[in-house]
Amino acid sequence: MKPVKVGLLGLGTVGTGVVRIVEGHQEDLQRKTGSPIVIEKILVQHMEKDRNISISSSKLTDNPNDILDNPEIDVIIEVMGGVELAKEYILRALDNGKHIVTANKDLVALHGKEIMDRAANKGCDIFFEASVAGGIPIIRTLVDGFSSDRITKIMGIVNGTTNYILTKMSQEGAAYADVLKEAQDLGYAEADPTSDVEGLDAARKMTILSTLGFHASVALSDVEVKGISQVSKEDIAYGKKLGYEVKLLGIAESKDDHIAVSVQPTMVKTSHPLASVNGVFNAVYVYGESVGETMFYGPGAGELPTATSIVADLVAVVHNLKLGVNGRETFKPYKETKMKTDEQ
Ligand code: NAP
Ligand code: HSE
Repeated sequence: MKPVKVGLLGLGTVGTGVVRIVEGHQEDLQRKTGSPIVIEKILVQHMEKDRNISISSSKLTDNPNDILDNPEIDVIIEVMGGVELAKEYILRALDNGKHIVTANKDLVALHGKEIMDRAANKGCDIFFEASVAGGIPIIRTLVDGFSSDRITKIMGIVNGTTNYILTKMSQEGAAYADVLKEAQDLGYAEADPTSDVEGLDAARKMTILSTLGFHASVALSDVEVKGISQVSKEDIAYGKKLGYEVKLLGIAESKDDHIAVSVQPTMVKTSHPLASVNGVFNAVYVYGESVGETMFYGPGAGELPTATSIVADLVAVVHNLKLGVNGRETFKPYKETKMKTDEQ
């Protein structure tokens, strides 16, 4: 059984979780895939940084060539974030025949099609389950689970940081800035938390979900976005008095070949299941013409939930390696689609 060798780009919140799961579940992973999985090298920015995981220093590098050009490495897991450098590294890795797993929604929302086309040309896999809703396997569900249906609407809470903030403001009357700091300390927020609080992170995720769900070319710039930075404790308290919780909702609808996608703070009736999705949890409703209404719920961010999705993608890559096939092609829009915003 030849080991499958992995190069990890990034050892922050998510990268640390990946190492913990690959090492902690090694025996199970080996039974499931038929191969030992070895994290061969890890790219970091600060070699001297104290890490909250014990890792042999010989595995760490600050030179991307040690991973991208390393013929021993079969799979690259990109969990460093950012757009341009991550894109450059992923394209280079694909050109070198390596399979990719990424959690990078910024990159997938902006350059998903280009990267997936390159992967297809090179006969490589690219999986990105962790890019939306952390530990909820929503991408697999949309692409595989609902492949027989026509999706008409996707709606939900897809950002853990803002849901954590809104929950604490609602339940404890906490101040916005204090709770944002807590969410950062817990590893939920993006490197630049403006992306979370201004709704951009949710918009990126809704771009990915609507592109996959509607088989359409939805651009990030097509999404109407409003974040929570202007939502006050008083707004939340007033909503509660009237029987509502404030939630940052992403809503994507496809009707008569028109698509509309938005992210905005929304008053949700307390009797609605989304009103009781609290803390870092996410929930996604998917409506299909045949299936009707379905709902998926789970942790939307954080070290181990996110790493669970990444390692599941890694297992899918290893299975494909064994079978000598490539994974599902995902960004393959076939619908001629008009965005509602184009016509306003
Ligand atoms: P993070 O804690 O900030 O970790 C980033 C890691 O990447 C660090 O280890 C850093 O090195 C390394 N890095 C960054 N820029 C680099 C560069 N130019 N060269 C080499 N190494 C570099 O970030 P994270 O929270 O783990 O998130 C990683 C990715 O996962 C992002 O795309 C994020 O959007 C996505 N994601 C995060 C979550 C979550 O809950 N946090 C959930 C889903 C998806 P040093 O350690 O040396 O500084
Ligand atoms: N910052 C993101 C969130 C991480 O809070 O949802 C998970 O994608």
